[in-house]
Amino acid sequence: MSLIARTEQALSQHFELAVGIGAPQKLQAAMKHAVFSGGARIRPQLCMAVAVACGEDEPDLTNAAAVALEFMHCASLVHDDMPAFDNADFRRGQATVHKAFSEPLALLAGDGLIVMAYQVLLQAGRQHPQRLMGLMENLTRGVGLPDGIVAGQAWECETTADLGQYQRAKTGALFVSATCAGAIASGKPSEPWAPLGAFLGEAYQVADDIRDVLGDIASLGKPAGQDVLNARPSSAQALGLEGAIQHFDTLIAKAGDAIPNCNSRDMLRQLVLLESERLVPKSMCDGYRKRNAHVKFVKPAKSSSSIAKVHKSSVTSSTPHSQR
Ligand code: IPE
Ligand code: IPE
Ligand code: MG
Ligand code: MG
Repeated sequence: MSLIARTEQALSQHFELAVGIGAPQKLQAAMKHAVFSGGARIRPQLCMAVAVACGEDEPDLTNAAAVALEFMHCASLVHDDMPAFDNADFRRGQATVHKAFSEPLALLAGDGLIVMAYQVLLQAGRQHPQRLMGLMENLTRGVGLPDGIVAGQAWECETTADLGQYQRAKTGALFVSATCAGAIASGKPSEPWAPLGAFLGEAYQVADDIRDVLGDIASLGKPAGQDVLNARPSSAQALGLEGAIQHFDTLIAKAGDAIPNCNSRDMLRQLVLLESERLVPKSMCDGYRKRNAHVKFVKPAKSSSSIAKVHKSSVTSSTPHSQR
């Protein structure tokens, strides 16, 4: 079975089980909309791929860990789209949860999914209390304080923030949790897998910033131009588009190099490269360069962000491995 099919099956099974019987209908529908609306499922697949690379011996535990990561991710998107944050009407090509169901239900759907993530882990980990504790701690680090999603989103409320720290927290941390979860669920040390998650996660957010400028609602399934609209610090704004593309390439190359020695190294490297092309297609970069061929130097736009004093040091690339 492919990793994506395995992910979808595990998500459906765990969702039905965790919702139980008799919960409020509208809340159930809102939570279903949040999870089953066509996400790329990169985090759970990453968790499963690492588990396999680590000689997976408890597939049910891997599945639960993968599902918990995706529930957390979906919850973060529901809250991120709400008027208090990015005020977005579309996500994954559909109405956002608060648009389709109301703000109170979106708030509760996100809350419900966060609790459900821990519930799924608890139910699956009873036979392996040691691994369960590791998985709980690992997930908490990816979503909490000081460096997880909640902290990352909260940097938007500060007057100054470091762009790299902001991106690593709001997006990178859950990728680190995803690679580490695969190892922990298989009873292996997680440390060797953290750098892969970190580079991939940061690359993912840089790609999101690039696509926010170069993409459109039809190709993204969510509105483009949101970073400028919401005055969010972004790699495209800090480095210029060309610089952001080179930074993305560097991070992808580093992600490939960070894969630990294992039987699945070539397969994982291939996965990283495929994901890189999916995220920032070569055709997208070529199109941008063609349109800007006459422009000698485009100075990054000055930000009007509420956290405008972004330190560039942490995002400035060394020699870029520009394959684009
Ligand atoms: C979007 O994540 C938000 C970011 C952290 C950049 P994804 O691009 O993984 O979203 P889905 O799950 O595929 O919709
Ligand atoms: C979302 O970041 C990261 C989360 C923790 C939810 P963005 O706001 O940049 O992502 P999109 O563009 O809405 O998916
Ligand atoms: Mg946001
Ligand atoms: Mg957003």
